[in-house]
Amino acid sequence: MNKGIAIYPGSFDPPTNGHLDLIQRGSKIFEELVVAILRNSEKSPMFSVAERLEMLRALTADLKNVRIDTFNGLMVEYAKSIDAVCILRGIRAISDYEYELQMALMNRKLEPTLETVFMMPADKYSYVSSRLVREVAQAGGPVKGLVPEVVEQKLREKLEPAYKFHDANTVEVPADEKRDEKKTSNKKRKKKA
Ligand code: PNS
Repeated sequence: MNKGIAIYPGSFDPPTNGHLDLIQRGSKIFEELVVAILRNSEKSPMFSVAERLEMLRALTADLKNVRIDTFNGLMVEYAKSIDAVCILRGIRAISDYEYELQMALMNRKLEPTLETVFMMPADKYSYVSSRLVREVAQAGGPVKGLVPEVVEQKLREKLEPAYKFHDANTVEVPADEKRDEKKTSNKKRKKKA
């Protein structure tokens, strides 16, 4: 086990099974791991910082050397303020590498004493990202196996009102209007032919 604190920063909107896999791996090799949620992200998030904090706390309750926190501004400044010696980031595929390399080198420029360590999540999560999970869930698709159950439940709670609203506003087309629609489309078809 490596002595000292490592920081695992990110947006975690929402936390996925890939994130959890990395946290579990990180907790085995670092003395203490601080999962740090960025508060001032430019993107408009699906989950509030408080919701993400609550989900990550619940998910890591059994990992005694893992702590969840939030930060604002420069990540390296926050890392220094908690005496972290290392930044942990996950790399799923080669496509992640360019962005991660750029970020690691910029962070090294900002704070040369902080090392970035990359770890790979289990290959079964190599295609899982928060963005795709949001996209699938928003379209009503299944996210089972991609996110922990707590997160799946939260996604359902968040998106269910939208579905209900959508269902309640679906106007039943009266039979005679349907007949008229059919006539018009038949006419159009004949014209085209
Ligand atoms: O999960 P993400 O969205 O890929 O995480 C990106 C994050 C939060 C690690 C990164 O955007 C970050 O550290 N932002 C804080 C501002 C900062 O320090 N920027 C310089 C990084 S090179």
